[in-house]
Amino acid sequence: MLEIKNLSKTFLIGTPNERTALDNLNLTVKDGEFVTIIGSNGAGKSTLFNAVCGGFTPDEGSILLDGKNITYEQEHKRAHYIGRVFQDPMKGTAPDLSIEENLALAYTRAHSGPFGKALNRKSRNFFRESLASYEMGLEDRMKTKVRFLSGGQRQVVTLLMCTLVAPRLLLLDEHTAALDPATGEKIMKITNKIVKEHKLSTLMITHNMKSALVTGNRTIMMDSGKIIMDFSGAEREKLTLEELLKMYTDKTRREFDNDRMLL
Ligand SMILES: Nc1ncnc2c1ncn2[C@@H]1O[C@H](COP(=O)(O)OP(=O)(O)OP(=O)(O)O)[C@@H](O)[C@H]1O
Ligand SMILES: [Mg+2]
Repeated sequence: MLEIKNLSKTFLIGTPNERTALDNLNLTVKDGEFVTIIGSNGAGKSTLFNAVCGGFTPDEGSILLDGKNITYEQEHKRAHYIGRVFQDPMKGTAPDLSIEENLALAYTRAHSGPFGKALNRKSRNFFRESLASYEMGLEDRMKTKVRFLSGGQRQVVTLLMCTLVAPRLLLLDEHTAALDPATGEKIMKITNKIVKEHKLSTLMITHNMKSALVTGNRTIMMDSGKIIMDFSGAEREKLTLEELLKMYTDKTRREFDNDRMLL
């Protein structure tokens, strides 16, 4: 279970660019819950992920994972048990290493072992089988350097790197936004399969509001560093995009301003 309590962060305090990115935010995510996150540009969505991963120290508040306070744990230590996939397909992988080397690296990182040990016949078979199950033809390209893969193929490798050993939390930050619609859909299918298979507690920021309402089992809307809406169950099932946007305007007295989300 992830418990975020009274989390606040203001950047560039005392300068003209001062900005409160997280404002006393509270969020509890139960084990196995798959939460989609939407919100206007600058709402604080990526900052929330940065806080959970340890990219900075919050000004106030705490982050607990499975009861353990990780608020001040170093980022590289959290990377052992928190998986993260970014929008940029270049970000999650080492471009000059092959697919199998990238997977081995992730595998040893999750086990805290030395790099190299994971690449043997047994692990290669495991990597090959895992890749084959995603039906992207990557199982036959295990020795190909990742730099030669398409964006969608790279995102699959990154997803697999994050989940070869099930993380305690999976964070997806618009991980399909840089892909063409058909590839994006394929990556979403693979994402759903992985989350289901490992029963992963997952947070997914998405630019696609329609997809947000049908993916996973809960949707939250962020605005000005806060969670302003939280839907699950029957209420979420019958919610339409139009109703959601109207609620946003009613609550914030602003039009929803995220161009990508409204496409
Ligand atoms: N390291 C930083 N230094 C200064 N300001 C920052 C930093 N990180 C985030 N911010 C500011 O905090 C606010 C929230 O940014 P964040 O990236 O979390 O938004 P977002 O909801 O992910 O938006 P988008 O939909 O555009 O990705 C923005 O105003 C941003 O400029
Ligand atoms: Mg963002």
